[in-house]
Amino acid sequence: MNIPLIKEIMTLSPEGQTVIIRGWVRTKRELKHLVFIEVNDGSCFKNIQCTFDLSQFTDQSISEQLAEVSTGVSVEISGKLVPSPAAGQPVEVTASSISVIGKATAENYPLQKKRHSLEFLREIGHLRARTNTFGAVARVRSRLAFAIHEFFQHRGFQYVHTPIITASDCEGAGAMFQVTTLDLEALAKSGKAVDYSKDFFGKRSYLTVSGQLEAETYATALSRVYTFGPTFRAENSNTTRHLAEFWMVEPEVAFAHLEDNMELAEAFLKHLFNVALTDCREDLEFFNERIQQGIIETLDSVVNSKFTHMTYTDAVKELEKNAGAFEFKPYWGCDLQSEHEKYLTEKVAGGPVIVTDYPKEIKAFYMKLNEDGKTVRAMDVLVPRLGEIIGGSEREERLEVLENRIKELGMNPEDYWWYLDLRRFGTVPHAGFGLGFERLILYVTGMTNIRDVIPYPRAVGQADF
Ligand code: 4AD
Ligand code: MG
Repeated sequence: MNIPLIKEIMTLSPEGQTVIIRGWVRTKRELKHLVFIEVNDGSCFKNIQCTFDLSQFTDQSISEQLAEVSTGVSVEISGKLVPSPAAGQPVEVTASSISVIGKATAENYPLQKKRHSLEFLREIGHLRARTNTFGAVARVRSRLAFAIHEFFQHRGFQYVHTPIITASDCEGAGAMFQVTTLDLEALAKSGKAVDYSKDFFGKRSYLTVSGQLEAETYATALSRVYTFGPTFRAENSNTTRHLAEFWMVEPEVAFAHLEDNMELAEAFLKHLFNVALTDCREDLEFFNERIQQGIIETLDSVVNSKFTHMTYTDAVKELEKNAGAFEFKPYWGCDLQSEHEKYLTEKVAGGPVIVTDYPKEIKAFYMKLNEDGKTVRAMDVLVPRLGEIIGGSEREERLEVLENRIKELGMNPEDYWWYLDLRRFGTVPHAGFGLGFERLILYVTGMTNIRDVIPYPRAVGQADF
């Protein structure tokens, strides 16, 4: 394949060699006999400028082609690569020919030269990747997805593909999408009871909320594993931080305790921030200038400082000192609300905080019970602006304690026979966590709505395209 990207062409030294530019027109400007066309192909933030000097062309067809050029048109332009006198671009093209590949009539092409609102762009999800903002988000997503694999692969973790369709509710929050091939409408009409033994899998099944339980089965065989895939939550949370379909990264480590887990989470986040700072610099500079001022500085300072550690009990004490400031009054036993998480990170710690040892009642069944019998070895990593970015724990590896907890919660131990087997045969302490990939992208880019950091958002009342 010999179709160079604009990003690659930009790095060539401008010695007058012939290049071919392929991409979509961002702008066209005319100045007497000069026509300037800026082309973008999404490979990098920058556009490449192609200049047509009409006084140099004898052929009329060039003017005909140029007349068809407007924002959004796809083109192939050839010309000479020359140094650019303009600031911010190393090279430009002195064009000798252009062919319009696909027109985009200016009257009805939804994207114009002006700045569009994010709300408007959400309605044209199929075209929004052609804007600066969504191009930049897509590149950061891609680079960080790869960085996740790099981080774990370099540390001896095996990538495990956990299932999307499952029968178990990992988080026990009852927020699962059911998967069925039964014709529920027809059954309801006929008055017959729904019999899931006749369903496709012979029992009720769902889209997974987390790959953790299955990742644990592999961690207790391969020692260090991670899974990275789509997860689904039917939470009725219409917020800027929740999606119904989001990507989660979940490492799971055998023989690890909570302290190891905290260390891993911090090193992992710092690695991802560093990669963004170095490899996505241009995109981050754009976000820093246009979306959220100070994000580069913040990321820089986070990678160079230690995360604050705090138990849930101490966190609640801090919040109670300032109880008047909250809509939801904090008390020991309450689930931390996003206003509490914001306060802890922004006012108390001035940076990321790892909160540990939450009351067992507000955490999932699999977390290891502390000796106090009240709290579990849970950890949430909170960051300013967003709150929770990572949730994890040391797992309960003691068979009896886990069985009791399952029963206490009214769950059926038989449904978890395979999970309990891990504790029956060669049990070991182990720990892991889940990072919400879109929350990571929100944090790194400074974007404010989670629906703008995934190509096709699925949220309450929204599953367009
Ligand atoms: O805290 P959560 O629910 O933890 C788990 O699912 C564990 N099984 C993970 C593990 O230990 N392996 O979710 C983990 C992270 C959250 O911290 C948050 O970043 C993200 O997933 N998350 C969501 N992101 C977007 N939309 C939602 N509805 C999310 N729910 C959780
Ligand atoms: Mg959580």
